[in-house]
Amino acid sequence: MKAYLCLLLTAAVCAALLCGCSVGELNNALGHAAQDSPIYDNRDDTVTDAFLPGARWLDEDGRPIQAHGGQVSRMPVDDAFAYIWVGEDKRSGHTGNCVSVYASDDLYHWRFGGDVLRVPPSREALDDDPYFAALYGACTPAEKDEIYAVLNPFAVIERPKMLYNEKNDNYVIWFHSDGATPQNDYLYDIGMAGVAVSDSPFGPFRLLGRSRLSRCPVDQLDCYPRSKGEARDLNLFLDEDGAAYVTYTSENNKTLYISRLNEDFTGLCKDPAEAVHGVDYIRLFPGAMREAPVLLRHEGRYYLMSSSTTGWASNQARVWWANEIFGTWHNQGNPCLGSEKNITFDTQSTSIFEAENGQWIYYGDRWNNYDLPDSRYVWLPVRFDDGKLTITWQSTWRWD
Ligand code: DGJ
Repeated sequence: MKAYLCLLLTAAVCAALLCGCSVGELNNALGHAAQDSPIYDNRDDTVTDAFLPGARWLDEDGRPIQAHGGQVSRMPVDDAFAYIWVGEDKRSGHTGNCVSVYASDDLYHWRFGGDVLRVPPSREALDDDPYFAALYGACTPAEKDEIYAVLNPFAVIERPKMLYNEKNDNYVIWFHSDGATPQNDYLYDIGMAGVAVSDSPFGPFRLLGRSRLSRCPVDQLDCYPRSKGEARDLNLFLDEDGAAYVTYTSENNKTLYISRLNEDFTGLCKDPAEAVHGVDYIRLFPGAMREAPVLLRHEGRYYLMSSSTTGWASNQARVWWANEIFGTWHNQGNPCLGSEKNITFDTQSTSIFEAENGQWIYYGDRWNNYDLPDSRYVWLPVRFDDGKLTITWQSTWRWD
């Protein structure tokens, strides 16, 4: 028995090293934290005027918030500003989830704004259901086939993010669009970015399409040359000069990219075939196997946080920083401090945002792969000490 366990452990360590995870990450991925760790303190969901990281979080109608892999940001809504939380409504499980939106004025209380990018239950619904007919009625049958290829009950629709586009006074959602192909039943074989638009953050959002993104320049070593321009976990970032960027994991999750968007925020600023590395996009940390990227700017410095790639299991986060978005990125290391820092407090990054008073907030997903809809949200205070982004555990806290 001992020999068997030893063999199993050695095989797991070898597998982890081959996939690029450290043994520490493997321990965390296999073991998680002890259940009596303070990071699992919050069983109570009755407190509504404070953050309780990891607790069940109910909306104003008393229903668990369904906005996983999402993003929180403050944006213009009907001539005022509100916090908008966009995410995956995982009630359908791993695939076929709609994109949901919640709104708040204080970050504690959230009203459900609806499923704003919806998945038709069948191809026929695109013709017959008035909701979908109103959105896609003008499309040809072939275009509707394309839409159904992206939005269907077996599709992967992950990590939706939203930007307000001032030029067009509209809202744009990007998401990771994936699924199996006739050649491969692996659910992440497509590796594309989907884009949808609406005049309101509360939808309905109309899908524009999906595409592959930037490619490895010919003078660099591509970590996955057989599949160009892949986009999986992604995030959006709006810079102070009005330029917007998409950051995403590519090359079979081995390499991160940041690409500048066009003025409408509906595509890249340059076609991937013509885009210039260092001008229109940048390829970062080849082979480092990072995903769940989050890009932000604080006091003139850019920060890029990401996780390692261990499926739904948590692992060690890392932050890089740069003075220019397409400049040199420096490794800051693990931003988390204290107990369970090596598993990011059992979360995976999805958004870091600034509250009205200048308090920055980390929002990570605590995935529950046995019951995905019951995955939890962990919001923690972020500090910038001597130019370093740090995150510490708090069992209960208020931003204001
Ligand atoms: C990690 C990603 O960050 C998630 O969005 C999801 O795709 C899981 N992998 C699936 O295993």
